[in-house]
Amino acid sequence: MNTLSMAYVQEFISAHTGLSVGDKDLKSTVMSRMKDFGFGHVDEYCRFLQTDTPESKDEWKQLCQIITTGESFFFRDKGQFQLIRNTILRELIEANRDRRTLRIWSAGCSTGEEPYSIAITVLELLPDVNLWDVTIIGTDINEDAIERARRGLYGDWSFRMVDPAIIDTYFKRRKGMYELEERVRRMVVFRQGNLIRDSYPDALAGICDIDFIICRNVFIYFQPENIALALGKLSQTLNKGGYLITGHAELQSIKLSGLVPITYPQSIIYRRLVDTTDEPQPQQIIFKPTKQISIINVQRNVRINRPLSAQQKTTVGTKTAAAAKDKPKAVWALSVGEGLYSEAQALYKEGKYPLAIEKATKFLRDNPRHCDAHVLLSRAYANTGDLKRAADACTSAMEIDSLRSEPYYMLAHIAEEQGKTEHAMEMFKRVIYLDARCVPAYVELSAIYEHEGDPKRGVKLVEAAIKILEGLPADSAVEFYDGVMAGELLAHLRKSSKIK
Ligand SMILES: C[S@@+](CC[C@H](N)C(=O)[O-])C[C@H]1O[C@@H](n2cnc3c(N)ncnc32)[C@H](O)[C@@H]1O
Repeated sequence: MNTLSMAYVQEFISAHTGLSVGDKDLKSTVMSRMKDFGFGHVDEYCRFLQTDTPESKDEWKQLCQIITTGESFFFRDKGQFQLIRNTILRELIEANRDRRTLRIWSAGCSTGEEPYSIAITVLELLPDVNLWDVTIIGTDINEDAIERARRGLYGDWSFRMVDPAIIDTYFKRRKGMYELEERVRRMVVFRQGNLIRDSYPDALAGICDIDFIICRNVFIYFQPENIALALGKLSQTLNKGGYLITGHAELQSIKLSGLVPITYPQSIIYRRLVDTTDEPQPQQIIFKPTKQISIINVQRNVRINRPLSAQQKTTVGTKTAAAAKDKPKAVWALSVGEGLYSEAQALYKEGKYPLAIEKATKFLRDNPRHCDAHVLLSRAYANTGDLKRAADACTSAMEIDSLRSEPYYMLAHIAEEQGKTEHAMEMFKRVIYLDARCVPAYVELSAIYEHEGDPKRGVKLVEAAIKILEGLPADSAVEFYDGVMAGELLAHLRKSSKIK
């Protein structure tokens, strides 16, 4: 097959599936398919694929099986699942409590691990699930994957990150495999569906008025223009105020079609605007009133979400009052227009991040050395997804007060979000250097070590965190983990690390 033919067939398949298929794989696949059918030229094969016949449909089915990557497992990405459970689903359940409906779509669900994980999560969140009308739909272009999803039978590999208690509760052993319980299987409906060729919303297929769409690790294989095309459909299928979660960074540089990004330490999620206008206006952005920050378990990505207040306490939590007194004071000048700063704080608390940014920026023009205002600005930017400006604001705060740990802590989270693990580790280490009693830094650094395959160091850090916590009153708040008490965190760490 010459280069032109190759480009042609690539383009043809991409237009049908959205996938950008690598030369090498595609070439051998197409050559072997053409040989099977006795086609001498790639044109003939493409023309055949274009016909509306059972044979061509069957061929697309075979082709999709070959060119798609169906890798999936239960509760894939624990951080995202924490967010789905504790933020997205809890919030939707509260919002829909009166009408008792919940509509979820797993788009590109492969063999079903993802929608079934959602079903299990819903079951755990809704003890009265029988009184609710819960719809969970799984779709995938690959019919074979959909057939396997319906069977609900899985091998060990699908459980590589799963808590054994989940397996015990929802699966039965069958012929060396694990069979998902009927009550969970019944919660999910599977359909073949192509995000590029099919129209969405699709009321006939029941894929409409969706509260939450999960479409992860699908767009990584797409051409950017196809991502935008599919995203527009997903956005239109969401209820106003509904949520979308994708794989990390899958929507980078893609126009968001009426969706607003909300940044959490675990992931960005997207929310469909309540207002009908396509582009978000600062006043119209729907954000939660408080930003969530995570407590990362000693196992990487197992996090408990807690709201992060606008003004984090620097003298409570893991620091004793004396230690706090010893802490060097910021060296900013006396503030002009403190009212503006208070307004920025209040706006931040209300979740009006763009307005908080506006006020804080104004305030900083007159008070460029106000360390707290830079920190506030950084948080507000992080919440709008602008990590670059968030990091810049941290740097400004550090230039003013290089001994303050909070900007480093923020930078560590930003680096994690950007996948810059080494930088994140360095920042957490600096936090510990500046504040040897900062429990969250130990816990989160430990999680990174665990994740990076150095559990020994991870355990050491958790032990250090436990030691500090043991010396604190159980009811003292933990710095950076707003609302979390030292005793609560201690119990959690002991349990999860099995250190007694
Ligand atoms: C890597 S799997 C992701 C499975 C699951 N979402 C997860 O994250 O574990 C990607 C899935 O996207 C599906 N896919 C690829 N192109 C698609 C399209 N145009 N429409 C629907 N699904 C598609 C593939 O068949 C494959 O099963």
